[in-house]
Amino acid sequence: MRSNPIGIFDSGVGGLTIYEEIHRLLPNEDIIYLADSKNAPYGEKTKEEIIKISVKNTEFLLSKGCKLIVVACNTASTNAVKYLREHYELPFIRVQPAIKPAAMNSKTKIVGILATKSTLKSDLLFETSQRFAQGVEVVEQVGEGLVTLIESGKMHSEEMTMLLKKHIKPMMDKKIDHLVLGCTHYPFLTDQIEEIVGSSVKILDSGEAIARQTKVILEQEDLLNLDHGKINRMFYTNKDPQVMQKILDEFNEGFKAVKTDF
Ligand code: DGL
Repeated sequence: MRSNPIGIFDSGVGGLTIYEEIHRLLPNEDIIYLADSKNAPYGEKTKEEIIKISVKNTEFLLSKGCKLIVVACNTASTNAVKYLREHYELPFIRVQPAIKPAAMNSKTKIVGILATKSTLKSDLLFETSQRFAQGVEVVEQVGEGLVTLIESGKMHSEEMTMLLKKHIKPMMDKKIDHLVLGCTHYPFLTDQIEEIVGSSVKILDSGEAIARQTKVILEQEDLLNLDHGKINRMFYTNKDPQVMQKILDEFNEGFKAVKTDF
């Protein structure tokens, strides 16, 4: 089992921001990445739909022999991981918006979170805010349209700049000093967001923390790959592979995006 791959899925290319952190921390692991871009954005779907899609993605990764699955999507994590853990035996790692460090380090006691509608509506986000952000105002903003632009290859475009400004302004007006990126697609936009918010706002995502958590669970379950031989990585997408390929090329690890029907 140790030499089996780690599975990662997202509604598209967003989970590649998590993949990259896992790649850095666990260079010996084989990885199968699944971009369910055909069904993006998940953020507009109901909980039931997200569970159904997450089951389908899990089955795909299981058919490839994955030993652990990272649900590299906040929307699927907040809505479907509980169900997946109840119905499958392998370990699932979920992503969670970095509200805790933002609330702990905020001086203004006002932090912003940019996420999908479905993540912001979820019980898990409510519980996280209740637990870790007592006495801190959490200003929520739906990042409507951002995932769709990234998935259509318009990460750097006039449309993106305008949309980001529109979403971020209400949070800046509230004087946030931390901005939590609560969607795994958004770290691709960090530089552009930094230009809008300036240096007084700290931008946080959860990629590194998820990679660390993945390592801890692999160790605990005795699943770390101890073989230092050639690594195998597969990147599947059920939509235009060009969008994913462009990002993989930027990672410069020599991997190819593979179009698959599922
Ligand atoms: N990357 C997904 C997330 O973290 C995007 C969700 C969507 O497809 O709307 O929530």
